[in-house]
Amino acid sequence: MHTSLSEKFGIEYPVFGFTPSEHVAAAISRAGGLGVLGCVRFNDPEELEAVLSWMDENTDGKPYGVDIVMPAKVPTEGTSVDLESLIPAEHRAFVDRTLAELGVPPLDSGAEHATGVLGWLHSVARSHVDVALNHRIALIANALGSPPKDVIDQAHEKGVPVAALAGAVEHARRHVANGVDIVIAQGYEAGGHTGEIASMVLVPEIVDAVGDSAAVLAAGGIGSGRQVAAALSLGAGGVWMGSYWLTTSEYRLGSASSEGPSAIQRALLGATSADTVRSRIYSGKPARLLKTKWTDAWSKPDAPAPLPMPLQNLLVSEAHQRIAASENPDVVAMPVGQIVGRMNEIRPVAEVMDELVKGFDSAVSRLDSFR
Ligand SMILES: Cc1cc2nc3c(=O)[nH]c(=O)nc-3n(C[C@H](O)[C@H](O)[C@H](O)COP(=O)(O)O)c2cc1C
Repeated sequence: MHTSLSEKFGIEYPVFGFTPSEHVAAAISRAGGLGVLGCVRFNDPEELEAVLSWMDENTDGKPYGVDIVMPAKVPTEGTSVDLESLIPAEHRAFVDRTLAELGVPPLDSGAEHATGVLGWLHSVARSHVDVALNHRIALIANALGSPPKDVIDQAHEKGVPVAALAGAVEHARRHVANGVDIVIAQGYEAGGHTGEIASMVLVPEIVDAVGDSAAVLAAGGIGSGRQVAAALSLGAGGVWMGSYWLTTSEYRLGSASSEGPSAIQRALLGATSADTVRSRIYSGKPARLLKTKWTDAWSKPDAPAPLPMPLQNLLVSEAHQRIAASENPDVVAMPVGQIVGRMNEIRPVAEVMDELVKGFDSAVSRLDSFR
């Protein structure tokens, strides 16, 4: 499993793993892939600084990357309007009523409440870039558009390549025109924000459109060596996986206990590939989520239409914190892709990587036997 991309990054396998957990990201890099830490959850640059120092120490000198969220088209700040005042009372009442009906308790009144996720604000995402570029990162990836030109230039000045997700061929063309080095062609099956075109169609379309101007990673629905082989057959230089790492033993986010699978993991382990929905309720933009009682409530006839980004983020921010604290697998608000149907046991990252490599080898041998 060697490609020009694995060579460029000095990694054993062209497996790029997006994850919000530093423990998973470090384990992916140690196992021979490139762990990419999602930074959107860090409101405080000092916390990110401490986590990246930990990554520097715990990756055995191997490369890793970071992922930021700088939406290209969403006014994230600078507006004189009080965004909270734009949220209709009907929406707030629906969220309160739904949480009560689902038995999700209020947050502990004594505890200090987080402000909610602010990492999608350009000012906060810029602080992520500033912090990350002082560490030995090998990649900056951006969700929801190309990063602004000065951010791309800032990364390039430090010799760090920039990647961006694309759900359609025109996004890929725009990224290349904006100076992005790696296009992540992410199909409809993927967890999180996703477009309407399946990976099988999208990946070769983007590979052909960008030609030699950028490398392409295939994303969406990858969780086995066979699927890695398929992605490379479609012309990608590597794969970018997100969902599959959520059921690794290193993933401990959102769990109060250090023993056994978290509520989120228990919900994922029981889900089939049919148990996801693509909905705007998570952030205001279409994102694929695990289907739970929370997502079901939003598809009932009495539910209001989700608000545009960033209003929906603001609306559900506290609800997401309450849901996470309740640790109830039936009421989870969690992005995940259709590959969830293959996520049936909790395993260490190294075991997952080993299986990807072995599965890739046997898929390639099988194809070879057809010649
Ligand atoms: C829990 C979760 C959170 C995600 N958050 C982000 C994010 O903050 N930034 C981003 O670029 N992509 C994010 N994604 C998308 C992944 O980067 C990746 O493109 C996607 O998971 C690939 O498809 P797969 O889920 O089928 O592996 C997220 C995906 C998941 C499952």
